[in-house]
Amino acid sequence: MNTKSNTSAASDAFDNLKETVGVVTVDDPKMSARNVDVFYGEKQAIYDVSLDIANNEVIAMIGPSGCGKSTFLRCLNRMNDSIPTCRVTGEMSLDGEDLYGAGLDPVLLRARVGMVFQKPNPFAKSIYDNVAYGPRIHGLASNRAELDDIVISSLQKAGLHEEVQDRLDAPGTSLSGGQQQRLCIARTIAVSPEVILMDEPCSALDPIATARIEELIDELRENYAIAIVTHSMQQAARVSQRTAYFHLGKLVEVGSTNNIFTNPRHELTENYITGRFG
Ligand SMILES: Nc1ncnc2c1ncn2[C@@H]1O[C@H](COP(=O)(O)OP(=O)(O)OP(=O)(O)O)[C@@H](O)[C@H]1O
Ligand SMILES: [Mg+2]
Repeated sequence: MNTKSNTSAASDAFDNLKETVGVVTVDDPKMSARNVDVFYGEKQAIYDVSLDIANNEVIAMIGPSGCGKSTFLRCLNRMNDSIPTCRVTGEMSLDGEDLYGAGLDPVLLRARVGMVFQKPNPFAKSIYDNVAYGPRIHGLASNRAELDDIVISSLQKAGLHEEVQDRLDAPGTSLSGGQQQRLCIARTIAVSPEVILMDEPCSALDPIATARIEELIDELRENYAIAIVTHSMQQAARVSQRTAYFHLGKLVEVGSTNNIFTNPRHELTENYITGRFG
């Protein structure tokens, strides 16, 4: 892959990119990344990224395909552990605790920092068991009534309960794509996470299902810190309070979503949001 962007002006702007532009730090961050580099074998995918994620905010991560959005997101709950060639350096923390420290159990971390993927991926189990799976593994309910409560309230928070309450025993895979994605969100919420990472959660959905998920993201913000990767500028503008623009593995600019879309400070950001670079 060419390591420079399409136009020579843009590549000058990229070469001259010495430091991240914008609001990298927040007061009382829920998650923090400092000087993070990520490698797949010899190949570097993320360069010196520092970024905080706050409680009660949705931060959108945007940028051209291959710029490292998913890589960065996956590092935040150590999903990259499953890729043997992947190496992360720098610091990442949750409530100040080192994510890659010896004392941290990645299974517990993934309950605290949940993830929703691009393609809805319900387990080959009933709707009920999809949501009950995490609470069972983590021993969150001491009896069936408590488990029922967790399943129902998670389905309610995910805006799916009304549609499925009469068929909780039906397979999760029997739901529509949008319903499956809400089921996956319910499954994530069921273990009471503190952060929800979403990697293009609406890319397989139609506009109506997308609108439903976007409403849900807005409601979930009351209780969680949320990071969402999206290729849709409209979606970033609709759901997020801050937006981070990535380019070829670097964080180019981060700031209030309003500022990023109306008054980007970096030429590369402007090129991307105005469609001059994809
Ligand atoms: N498992 C892997 N092994 C090796 N290289 C990888 C792996 N996953 C990603 N990469 C490389 O790391 C870089 C960043 O990829 P990543 O998937 O994070 O990009 P992205 O911004 O999420 O792109 P997209 O918008 O297409 O999803 C790319 O060059 C990609 O080829
Ligand atoms: Mg991706």
